[in-house]
Amino acid sequence: MENKIDQSVIPRRTLYSGEEIPAVGLGTFGSDKYGADTVSEAVYGAIQCGYRLIDCAAVYQNEEKIGNVLRKVFAENIVERKDLFVTSKVWNDMHGEGKVLESCKKSLSDLGLDFLDLYFVHWPFPNYHAPGCDGDSRNPDSRPFSLDEFMATWRQCEELVDKGLVRYIGMSNMTIPKLEAVLPLCRIQPAALEMELHPSFQQPELFAYAKEHNILPIGYCPIGSPSRPERDRTAEDVADTQLPAVLAAAEAHQVHPAVICLKWAAQRGQVPIPFSVKEPQYRSNLECVTKDPLTKEEMEAIGREDRNCRLIKGQVFLWEGAKGWEDLWDLDGKIVTL
Ligand SMILES: NC(=O)c1ccc[n+]([C@@H]2O[C@H](COP(=O)([O-])OP(=O)(O)OC[C@H]3O[C@@H](n4cnc5c(N)ncnc54)[C@H](OP(=O)(O)O)[C@@H]3O)[C@@H](O)[C@H]2O)c1
Repeated sequence: MENKIDQSVIPRRTLYSGEEIPAVGLGTFGSDKYGADTVSEAVYGAIQCGYRLIDCAAVYQNEEKIGNVLRKVFAENIVERKDLFVTSKVWNDMHGEGKVLESCKKSLSDLGLDFLDLYFVHWPFPNYHAPGCDGDSRNPDSRPFSLDEFMATWRQCEELVDKGLVRYIGMSNMTIPKLEAVLPLCRIQPAALEMELHPSFQQPELFAYAKEHNILPIGYCPIGSPSRPERDRTAEDVADTQLPAVLAAAEAHQVHPAVICLKWAAQRGQVPIPFSVKEPQYRSNLECVTKDPLTKEEMEAIGREDRNCRLIKGQVFLWEGAKGWEDLWDLDGKIVTL
């Protein structure tokens, strides 16, 4: 591929160990819109273009196809294994005793890897929804967060590190009250927190909390997930690419507003993992952090666009007796239980 982006100009972020990872990664959730072939083809193109951080998950149902692509990029000497940072996640139906190891081994075999760089607990409870379900879907077995259950899952993740199957472990979709409860109990600390982060949903408290605890925030839906599934859409949602400060910066820098969201994210210090299957898009999503930064004033103006607009509300994970999706996010500062 022509115009490969030079690795030396891609900014890097530091994990608690001192190891550095790229400041931007590639998302691989096809949002029920893009199939495994299309997504894996994009992974191939993106690695050729210069991406070195790939965010995978078992529930995205494309790890096997992505594995074929990883084998190909290694065989073609496009990149060496040691220079690629691959994440995956244990899905909610695989939290039980012995299941995390099974899930990790399946992801490793699908992805064709001997180890994962980072393995996330995708959601902090075992509440399952089928891939592709609609927003009204509920599972009668769903239940609220349980500290004991979560720690049993985390202990299994720690064992994956002991066994050399994963290098780091991480959490996703957490809240400060949940982190306050679990962090003192962790033998191996989370290296990263994958959380929803975009201009209209900046989560300043959780972001600061992660930083203070030496946990790297990885931002999902960094562009506001314009192609997200129907189940994750409500009438109140704000489009990040329409926010006045984002539009003004896009005009000033002569780029798409999506690119401004990514510049803002990388300059703020989170690692955005934008998804795209379109070559010009994924190229500009990586290239944009290597040049023409936002000014201090533009950063501040976008900082003021926070509308507390959570897009991935998670209502499909609600349990019998829950009041609404807010219960998943401990909005009163306490862990919501039954
Ligand atoms: N941990 C979790 O629970 C969790 C939850 C959600 C997502 N994630 C991860 O985060 C990744 C990113 O989130 P996401 O895919 O929901 O949302 P996103 O990255 O905010 O949005 C992706 C969409 O933005 C559009 N886009 C991308 N680059 C663009 C550009 N340069 N110009 C214009 N439009 C552009 C594309 O729309 P078109 O398709 O219309 O081109 C693309 O489908 C996922 O793929 C997944 O890996 C994790």
